[in-house]
Amino acid sequence: MDAMRQTFLNELAAATTPEAVEQLRVRYLGRKGILTELRKGTDMGSMDPEQRRQFGTRFNDLKETIEAELTRAIGRLKGAPAAGRQSLDLTLPAAERRSGSLHPITLVQMELEVIFRGMGFQVLTGYDVESEFFNFDSLNIPSDHPAREMQDTYWLTNGMLLRTHTSANQVRALGELGAPLRAIFPGRCFRYEAIDAKHENTFYQLEGLMVDREISVANLIAVMRALLAEVFRREVTVRLRPGFFPFVEPGFELDIQCLLCSGAGCPTCRTGWLELIPCGLVHPNVLRHAGVDPEQWSGFAFGLGLTRLAMMKFGIPDIRLFNSGDLRFCSQFPVAL
Ligand code: DAH
Repeated sequence: MDAMRQTFLNELAAATTPEAVEQLRVRYLGRKGILTELRKGTDMGSMDPEQRRQFGTRFNDLKETIEAELTRAIGRLKGAPAAGRQSLDLTLPAAERRSGSLHPITLVQMELEVIFRGMGFQVLTGYDVESEFFNFDSLNIPSDHPAREMQDTYWLTNGMLLRTHTSANQVRALGELGAPLRAIFPGRCFRYEAIDAKHENTFYQLEGLMVDREISVANLIAVMRALLAEVFRREVTVRLRPGFFPFVEPGFELDIQCLLCSGAGCPTCRTGWLELIPCGLVHPNVLRHAGVDPEQWSGFAFGLGLTRLAMMKFGIPDIRLFNSGDLRFCSQFPVAL
């Protein structure tokens, strides 16, 4: 029987298609197959009980081996792709498709860009590394001006700086493109700040500038209200308070009535109002620095804190999350607003 087992295994190894294996099965296990013949051809009656028992054990053993090997061979041959054809197993789980997501600052920025484009504004970007002139002097902030101290600056060894605000784009763009101009400048700003839940050394602003004939505070308010209604998806009540920035005159702090308490006062706003957008009418000196005649042109400007707006909009409690690079934070925002 050992010889038969070996013969079978050799023949099985030579069988390379399911059909060939099936033929083997019939030849060995079929009703008139080799095993049946073997059993029939053995005169068990003439054996003593011990011989009979041994024969039975070996016979069953051989049969089990043959059955198991046949089953294995069939499985192997059917599972393998036929030559030149890809096998497709629809029962396998599909390959995971991971969709990316956008950073919350990107989302808010994209939303604002759409709103401003709708009002005829171009979207421009300047440079993270700026000159002292565009970041300060051109904005009516000479070197001895105390306003410089409010913006702790990263100075580079070559005399340039990391822009402390997107206002640095105002004279750069107006000087290049001339009046009339409607543009927004989203971008990164840098200040030498101690970092905590509310302060970052790297944050985002969105500057806006509109210069045309007879631009007044009324135009400023109208654009701000249109913007805020879109961002918050409802009418918001705004108020202007005087604010000082050397590059606007008059300068304002634009507050919105708190959306949580509708102005009644709550733990978030305390006063019923939230300070949101510093703004004002462009100072004549700024226009002059850009080569634009303040007798003929006027404009408004505003500097919106994109990072702060994203915190408000998404209820993000800690500014440090934005630059953490932590995907658990970054990937939980919708793909589009
Ligand atoms: N650049 C100012 C800051 O970062 C914000 C600002 C105030 C921008 C008034 C403006 C403006 O355009 O009109 O603090």
